[in-house]
Amino acid sequence: MTPAHPEKWPVHAVYGAVDQQLLKDCGNLLTAAEESDGNPSISEQTLISMRAGDSADHKLLTLALYAPDEDSDPSSGQDLAGFAAVVEETDGTGVVEIAVHPSYRNQGVADRLVGALQDRRGFHGLKAWSHGNHEAAADLAARYGYVPVRELWKMRMTTAAADLPDAAMPDGVAIRTFVPGQDEDAWLAANRAAFAHHPEQGSLTRADLDARMAESWFDPAGFLLAVDGEGQLLGYHWTKVHPRHGSHPAIGEIYVVGVTPGAQGSGLGKALTVAGIKHLQDQGLHAVMLYVDADNAPAVALYRRLGFTRWDMDVMYGPAAG
Ligand SMILES: CC(C)(COP(=O)(O)OP(=O)(O)OC[C@H]1O[C@@H](n2cnc3c(N)ncnc32)[C@H](O)[C@@H]1OP(=O)(O)O)[C@@H](O)C(=O)NCCC(=O)NCCS
Repeated sequence: MTPAHPEKWPVHAVYGAVDQQLLKDCGNLLTAAEESDGNPSISEQTLISMRAGDSADHKLLTLALYAPDEDSDPSSGQDLAGFAAVVEETDGTGVVEIAVHPSYRNQGVADRLVGALQDRRGFHGLKAWSHGNHEAAADLAARYGYVPVRELWKMRMTTAAADLPDAAMPDGVAIRTFVPGQDEDAWLAANRAAFAHHPEQGSLTRADLDARMAESWFDPAGFLLAVDGEGQLLGYHWTKVHPRHGSHPAIGEIYVVGVTPGAQGSGLGKALTVAGIKHLQDQGLHAVMLYVDADNAPAVALYRRLGFTRWDMDVMYGPAAG
């Protein structure tokens, strides 16, 4: 490959929904990046927003940097070197995420994208996610006066069914699976209540839920609901299966666990978590991972007691000292 000069490449700016070609190029880039890094470069919700475009809650800006033909890597057939996605809320705050193709790392691609973002929008109100605690992202953030403001841990455990504690449901509470077409509104309300203080999960909308239910991985059999005698939803555990890809073996995920505030502290969170892990084990998945905010003490304590340990972390950067 000839030396790259990303500072000379044109940046394409797309406002709102991203067209099919760019979506496909971004998808290919993300697959290559995940294969190389072992974790996704962009959050699932950002990808959903890129497909859906602007909404009443947010608007989207995507900056794409294509390498000119002579610089592209013929073996990969890729020429999207990197892209930045900015999801901006109605109050002007937002989050930027950047993905760089593994063939174009360490050549100034992210720098070029950040510079283009500074020119077109500026950084006002913006924070940035680094998925995986990359040194290059830390350096880039520091150059622009950004410091770590939030840590999202990735935890993992490998266990045989016998290692899991017995965790009975509290009296009068039963588990059943999510029924599409019936449980959406109740689940959204319970999710809002359980995650009232969470910056992303608590504001999930019906459109966000529908988009996830339309994904190929969605399986209601792995979406457990805890209900009381009147059928009231008290908690849930939504699991996800990541099939084997490339050199990475299949792994189960505690996609989201929540207990409504009035039902917290009664053992329900533990019982739901254990039930979901058993469901994953029944499908032959003995490695299970999850994401959790480092400062979510109840959840981190619960996961540690079940045998999860920290595996990796995503770091959010924000401007230093206001
Ligand atoms: C995390 C959550 C699911 C736990 O559910 P819960 O029903 O309140 O928890 P349980 O009563 O089953 O307690 C299970 C374990 O959690 C830990 N825990 C629960 N509340 C805690 C608290 N306030 N502080 C510290 N640890 C706590 C304990 O380790 C406890 O185990 P122990 O009883 O053996 O000591 C619940 O607090 C919740 O829904 N929180 C908001 C949503 C959320 O953060 N979900 C996880 C995101 S990844």
